[in-house]
Amino acid sequence: MKPPTLTLALLALTGTASSECSHAFLTNAAALYVAAQRDGQTASYASANITYTENDVPVNITSGILARPLKIDRATSYHDTTLCASFTELIITDPASPFVIATRTVHDQSNKTATTIHSIVSKPGDWAFNATGYIRWENLEGEWGIISPSKRDSRATIQAAGDAYFDHFNDTTVKVPWAAACARIEGGAYTDSHGYGNNTCDSAVPGGNVVRNRRYVVDEAHGVVSIFVGFPRLDGTAPDKAVPDSHLFRVEGGRIRYVHTVSACFTAGCGWVGDLPP
Ligand SMILES: *[C@@H]1O[C@H](CO)[C@@H](O)[C@H](O)[C@H]1NC(C)=O
Ligand SMILES: *[C@@H]1O[C@H](CO)[C@@H](O)[C@H](O)[C@H]1NC(C)=O
Ligand SMILES: *[C@@H]1O[C@H](CO)[C@@H](O)[C@H](O)[C@H]1NC(C)=O
Ligand SMILES: *[C@@H]1O[C@H](CO)[C@@H](O)[C@H](O)[C@H]1NC(C)=O
Ligand SMILES: *[C@@H]1O[C@H](CO)[C@@H](O)[C@H](O)[C@H]1NC(C)=O
Ligand SMILES: *[C@@H]1O[C@H](CO)[C@@H](O)[C@H](O)[C@H]1NC(C)=O
Repeated sequence: MKPPTLTLALLALTGTASSECSHAFLTNAAALYVAAQRDGQTASYASANITYTENDVPVNITSGILARPLKIDRATSYHDTTLCASFTELIITDPASPFVIATRTVHDQSNKTATTIHSIVSKPGDWAFNATGYIRWENLEGEWGIISPSKRDSRATIQAAGDAYFDHFNDTTVKVPWAAACARIEGGAYTDSHGYGNNTCDSAVPGGNVVRNRRYVVDEAHGVVSIFVGFPRLDGTAPDKAVPDSHLFRVEGGRIRYVHTVSACFTAGCGWVGDLPP
């Protein structure tokens, strides 16, 4: 009886893999994206008619950052097979023109092509920007490894942790599920620059700021949620123009252990005032 059962199970798996958005497909697509950015060749990666934004402004992909070859020092991706979406972070330390780029790519499930790409492209002058710092602190943290299946949080739990972080900016009574220790890379600054590993990410925030336009990528295996948002400008200028922002959360046991942020400003310091971190 065993061989037929095994055969049926394999057939079922094969059928699933071809009709759904597989991890292998997303991994390959992210590798193509990184190669396209390295070579500055968009045609190999995406149609010129794709929905493409940089810092929440629509751009023709053939004339955006992706058309410019960049020497990428570190590329990290996480994958969401439910949304058929990926998050990729690129660090370019080239002193002449450094960047930290956060990209959210959504693919069409049926034909497996990228349909939407949103990139936050940060550079000198943006919030706490320091590409050298970004890569230094990431190397210190090391890889956010795969979480063993028995310890994995549900998709809903992982996403709720990230949402609580942003909800707290509006309603400071919202409890953020911090891990016993939490560290945040913000633009390139780090909350745990001594590497003690006992830090907190819990900074006082003024409240009353609704963080909107949330777009998610959830990778359960890595306990990761990426949330792209429009961050309200706390100086009251251009209230219609939220700050394009990416927050990447590593959640362990339902609690936030690490945060990486990438923000693009319209004005120096993003027009943020008050006691916001760092
Ligand atoms: C892009 O869209 C334009 C206008 O709809 C169309 O004429 C053109 O063929 C499209 N190009 C590609 C590569 O799909
Ligand atoms: C983007 O630019 C390319 C090259 O100039 C052009 O072929 C394409 O139609 C443009 N797409 C849109 C949506 O304007
Ligand atoms: C894939 O499907 C999407 C959504 O239906 C469509 O916009 C896109 O043009 C398709 N791409 C290809 C290459 O067929
Ligand atoms: C950026 O980070 C690097 C590495 O931590 C540090 O040596 C450098 O002083 C930082 N630059 C600024 C402008 O803070
Ligand atoms: C913002 O917080 C207030 C309580 O301070 C709450 O009543 C309101 O629903 C919140 N708004 C959003 C959009 O979450
Ligand atoms: C973290 O550990 C260092 C070194 O032991 C200590 O000086 C520091 O006060 C600790 N910080 C917190 C927030 O506990």
